[in-house]
Amino acid sequence: MYRRTYLEVDCEKLKNNIINIKENYPGYEYYFGVVKANAYGHGGFIINSLIEGGINYLAVSSLEEAIKLREFNTEIPILILEPIHLEFLDKCINYNLTITVSNMEYFKELLTIELPHALKIHVKLDTGMSRLGIKSSNDLNEIINKLPNNPNLFLEGIYTHFATSGINDKHWDNQLSSFKEITKDIDLSTIPIVHMGRSLTLVNHEKIPFCNGTRLGIVMYGMSQNMPAGKGFKAFLRNLRNKHNRKKLHISPTTTTNNLDLKTAITLYSEVIDLRKIHANDFVGYGAEFVAQNNMIIATLPIGYADGIPKNIKHIVINNKKYNVVGEVCMDMICAAVDETVKLYDKATIIGGDTLPVKKVANECGISTYTLFTGITNRVPRVYVNSQETTEINY
Ligand SMILES: Cc1ncc(COP(=O)(O)O)c(C=O)c1O
Repeated sequence: MYRRTYLEVDCEKLKNNIINIKENYPGYEYYFGVVKANAYGHGGFIINSLIEGGINYLAVSSLEEAIKLREFNTEIPILILEPIHLEFLDKCINYNLTITVSNMEYFKELLTIELPHALKIHVKLDTGMSRLGIKSSNDLNEIINKLPNNPNLFLEGIYTHFATSGINDKHWDNQLSSFKEITKDIDLSTIPIVHMGRSLTLVNHEKIPFCNGTRLGIVMYGMSQNMPAGKGFKAFLRNLRNKHNRKKLHISPTTTTNNLDLKTAITLYSEVIDLRKIHANDFVGYGAEFVAQNNMIIATLPIGYADGIPKNIKHIVINNKKYNVVGEVCMDMICAAVDETVKLYDKATIIGGDTLPVKKVANECGISTYTLFTGITNRVPRVYVNSQETTEINY
């Protein structure tokens, strides 16, 4: 690493998250780790820690992502959640990847392809998101009936994806009903893996009896997703609204609190590469938008929006002290108003640690934790730490 801007990832924390999730929700045979978008920004290197924690299937969006992960693990099954162009199916077979079948036209074309070896497929159902998926029981029955004629296509799974939390909306229940309707002619116990839920489903609902798989995304990375009972007037109003909606809409019971003890594993660091004193009425940064009201010390750090930090990031921390970001966030640099305790080359925390936790930074910037995690670009080296060693990877 030449520029000291990097994302530190604590692999033990990720592993412990999985152990903790499995202890709290032990009822599944398959725990899918959703590691698309470079494992939510953490980088593919982490998959072995997830596997050590108990993840036994991975899910990604694209063939590129799946092939990249094979650099880190050649054994674990990987499900690709989006359709793959049929000319690349040989790659799926060679890399031991499972494909998603999510529309009839694709399925019919798939039947015409001669495959050299068995290809595992999961059929995705559209239960209410209108993105991907088989929508009717007739279509699903056709798939199920035609598959045995093709010895190289193995139906390993059926799944869907929930649009909402179902905490105070009825959509979740409607999607579950729709899944039951589409699969009504099928004995789901004959399908090796049935998986519907994502993190929110896991922590906010009773286990769906016929599902033996669950897909873990954001919870694995330390976001608990529960709706704590909370304190104060806001929490009181939220609980009241949820209670009212549940009664009015007959929403299925939710687990609004849980005993999960999850930790985020990332800390984004940079360093002070310049310090300068400025006077009242001096400008800082592009557009001359920030005007100093009095004499100030400005620290410059080599991290910008091209590294994935939000354009409206508010604070950084140096030597346990929080400072305001001033001026516009540039492509490669930010400036902060600091004091005389800050020295050249001091290490700065941009995201993470006790003062700038992921959720707080995301909230302050008005973005989701998903956007914050996945936004960190590949220009930022990842440094993996666990009890034994430190590994730096440039993706
Ligand atoms: C199909 C599918 N399953 C599971 C997940 C994981 O979602 P979450 O991070 O909310 O658990 C995603 C993420 O977008 C997804 O697209």
